[in-house]
Amino acid sequence: MKNFINDIPKAELHLHIEGTLEPELMFKLATKNNIKLNYKTIEDIKKAYNFTNLQSFLDIYYSGAKVLINEEDFYDLTFDYLKKCKQNNIIHTEIFFDPQTHTARGIKFETVINGISKALEDAKNEFSISSKLIMCFLRHLSEEEAFDTLKEAIKFKDKIIGIGLDSSEIGNPPSKFKNVFSKAKNLGFKLVAHAGEEAGFEYINDALDLLNVDRIDHGVQAINNNKLMQRLKDNQIALTVCPLSNTKLKVFEDMKEHNIKQMLEYGLNVTVNSDDPSYFGGYLNDNFHAISNNLNLSKENIIKLVKNSFNSSFISNEQKAKFINIVDEFIKNN
Ligand code: HPA
Ligand code: ZN
Repeated sequence: MKNFINDIPKAELHLHIEGTLEPELMFKLATKNNIKLNYKTIEDIKKAYNFTNLQSFLDIYYSGAKVLINEEDFYDLTFDYLKKCKQNNIIHTEIFFDPQTHTARGIKFETVINGISKALEDAKNEFSISSKLIMCFLRHLSEEEAFDTLKEAIKFKDKIIGIGLDSSEIGNPPSKFKNVFSKAKNLGFKLVAHAGEEAGFEYINDALDLLNVDRIDHGVQAINNNKLMQRLKDNQIALTVCPLSNTKLKVFEDMKEHNIKQMLEYGLNVTVNSDDPSYFGGYLNDNFHAISNNLNLSKENIIKLVKNSFNSSFISNEQKAKFINIVDEFIKNN
């Protein structure tokens, strides 16, 4: 099973590029850009990654992102993640980026997107990795600030497939971003939102009803409402679940308590993702191993999870069929 998980071609749909910043690159960029870090050693950094909830993580995540200054820094960050994709046999990835984390520090929107995009282009040529970019609004900021960010994104519309919503969930409901999501939909963007990660299942209904999202990021709180479970099943709405993130942020105390297998067996369209792998202790294969070992997943479970990701991605039907064919060929031989 271990080799099967490692080797099967996969897609990833929930990955924050700022959450792939490894301590080594953080130190390197801090030195290069003359940024003072709160840590003296890599061990100090790793010790700080001891989270109690989402906010305790976000504070450290935003502070780490301060080392990213120039276009080449965003390039290096992104290219390092794409090398991990290669190692994890990820052949398609849909990457979140948080421009407001950077523009608030005086970094230009184009510095961020050009650095990321050049790395995506190079990885496509060097590793044949297919990718899309999703721009997230920070939900602890105002809807007006989200509108300003959307305006910037329009200039780079050819590089951005969708719009998402992340950061502090509790107290920042989907309703706060109703108008800006409606504008984004009219502009032709795909839509996603983090919902039901640590706030209640109501946020999932609201993300569907008020924001019109195409996928739900996390969504694990759906289990607390039968009517919503039925709705997600009937409409096969994709949930981008992140197991290691959920245990690190204490959404579940232990991986053995994670509900991904229960949701899968109920018939929901669940997928496996790494969220912020540098902070949560593992990339995509590590997430698959963690659930496989703790929840006793079958090979069929793994195949279903992998196919769900390709089928729920924002690529053409033709491209989806091509990827599913690659997965089927792998299964035939393994
Ligand atoms: N939830 C909300 N915001 C985030 C996350 C997350 O898991 N990761 C990065 N920003
Ligand atoms: Zn996330």
